[in-house]
Amino acid sequence: MRKVAVIAGDGIGPEVVAEGVRALEWFRAERGVDLELWHLDLGAERYLRDGSTFPDEIRRTIEHECAAVLLGALGDARVPNFEHARDILFGMRFGFDLYANVRPVIALGDALVPLRGRTASDVNFVVFRENTEGIYAGIGGQLRRGTPDEIAINEDINTRKGVERILRAAFQYARRTGRKRLHMADKSNAMRHAHELWQRVFHELRLEYAEIEARHLFIDALCLELVRDPSQFDVIVTNNLFGDIVTDLGAALQGGLGVAASVSLNPDHPERVKLFEPVHGSAPDLVGLGRANPVATLLCVAMLLDELGYRESAAELEQAVSGAVRAGQTTPDLGGELSTRQAAEAVIARLRPR
Ligand code: NAD
Ligand code: IPM
Ligand code: MN
Repeated sequence: MRKVAVIAGDGIGPEVVAEGVRALEWFRAERGVDLELWHLDLGAERYLRDGSTFPDEIRRTIEHECAAVLLGALGDARVPNFEHARDILFGMRFGFDLYANVRPVIALGDALVPLRGRTASDVNFVVFRENTEGIYAGIGGQLRRGTPDEIAINEDINTRKGVERILRAAFQYARRTGRKRLHMADKSNAMRHAHELWQRVFHELRLEYAEIEARHLFIDALCLELVRDPSQFDVIVTNNLFGDIVTDLGAALQGGLGVAASVSLNPDHPERVKLFEPVHGSAPDLVGLGRANPVATLLCVAMLLDELGYRESAAELEQAVSGAVRAGQTTPDLGGELSTRQAAEAVIARLRPR
């Protein structure tokens, strides 16, 4: 039986992951989904208790024995340097070489779209965010720290291999799914070394994928266009940092961070463990209030079912989620009155036992 590691994490992580697990348990019981859940005690509590962040043995077991990881969120004010979170999150994204962070920006209903005159049909695109290099690589340092002459450096790493594989993954996805238009966003007007590489590889690849309408936008212009007319976008591909920022903007277009899901994977190794996590963080302002929206996590579970071959179950769950959202059975961030638990129960109640 394939294993799914569950890392609830910090803040609202445990609250939303409990609902994701409830949904997974339903599919195990009612649809014969053959996945074993492995609950891991990792996160700020563990770190504060015994100093462990991402123990080697756990890392190895995830890498060699798990098909997927379901992660809630990491980040806790008691760990101000984010140390545990970096070890766990980047430990998986970088450590397992999950270079494609795929973040669908799909509005589930018209009422969720905040733009005047726009409907859900205008917000339907997928962001491919490079997930293993860029400014996140952690290369840099500080000199003369705490003095007036202080220097702080974070290097932006862009390799030919890294740029090519994320661009290719986005083009391949467009080809496979019939999405016709692809936008690559960079800042090659200012970052002339690193992003000239993105430009060059992009122009090479677009010739190989001639059936796809491939366009370039500078990242600032992309942000403007996303708000002005999101319907122009099908697939967006960009670097690690820009992808992080643009997908929070995307989340706002689709109804907020409470509904934005993502998967990190390595398209060259489909058998490799995949990491499913909501786009949102640990939302310290919501902890313990029962107001955290479980939809992002439920959509992660749907993506997980889909990626692990349970296509029908994934579609069922997606439909149940959008049905509940359209019926107003939601947490307050979407205008409803339900608690985290009730909102998830409203989704599960729409699933039909056979
Ligand atoms: P955040 O995503 O936690 O919260 C931003 C805003 O969105 C807040 O107003 C919050 O209440 C709201 N929000 C988030 N999730 C929600 C949900 N499920 N339902 C309803 N509303 C929701 O971002 P932040 O405040 O910038 O970061 C808080 C902590 O989370 C930080 O430590 C940050 O580093 C971390 N973080 C972790 C991840 C991750 O683990 N993948 C992602 C982003 C941020
Ligand atoms: C995300 C988060 C992370 C990122 C943080 C917590 C490091 O914002 O998953 O979007 O920037 O990748
Ligand atoms: Mn983010």
